[in-house]
Amino acid sequence: MSHELHPLVDAATIHDRVRELGREISASYGNEPLVLVCVLKGAFLFFADLARAMKTECEHDFVRLASYGSGTSRGKEMRFSKDLEVPIEGKHVLIVEDIVDTGNSVEFLRHVFAKSEPLSLKVCALVDKRERREIDIEVDFAGFNLTGAGFLVGYGMDYAERYRELDAIYELVRPERA
Ligand code: IMP
Ligand code: MG
Repeated sequence: MSHELHPLVDAATIHDRVRELGREISASYGNEPLVLVCVLKGAFLFFADLARAMKTECEHDFVRLASYGSGTSRGKEMRFSKDLEVPIEGKHVLIVEDIVDTGNSVEFLRHVFAKSEPLSLKVCALVDKRERREIDIEVDFAGFNLTGAGFLVGYGMDYAERYRELDAIYELVRPERA
């Protein structure tokens, strides 16, 4: 089905905000041991820019989630299609997501990571979107609050694997709603 892209956040604004987040996160962790965990695929561009905007020396790792079973979100079963490789016990862990939407993905990650007894477990998301939140989760470091903005693409975020390469954030709009 055809659709249109409406610009929401331009590349320069993203760039400035990511640098600001990098400073904020570095100030918060100082020189404590920190593992930055990228949730693939959507966070890949954000993660790469954030990692370079940070002063805190960190370890980097990547996970990928797969959901299966019936239903669209609530009660959805999740598993890793790529698990952590870096040990996180006794280290701070910062989960880096593209979007926190219903909260199910972050809830799953927090639950699994907690078993390894990290020093702390926090969440950083490029976009905090709250209108469909099902789990009471706070995003500790949010790039943009885009609650109510609709379905987003660009800067890593996709619609059926398209648009990840765009350097700005767009709302995907169906022509009948345009
Ligand atoms: P949650 O488990 O519902 O919080 O959803 C998290 C994942 O769904 C995000 O990491 C995204 O990969 C995907 N997602 C949710 N909303 C959007 C969107 O507007 N555009 C692209 N992906 C989205
Ligand atoms: Mg994601």
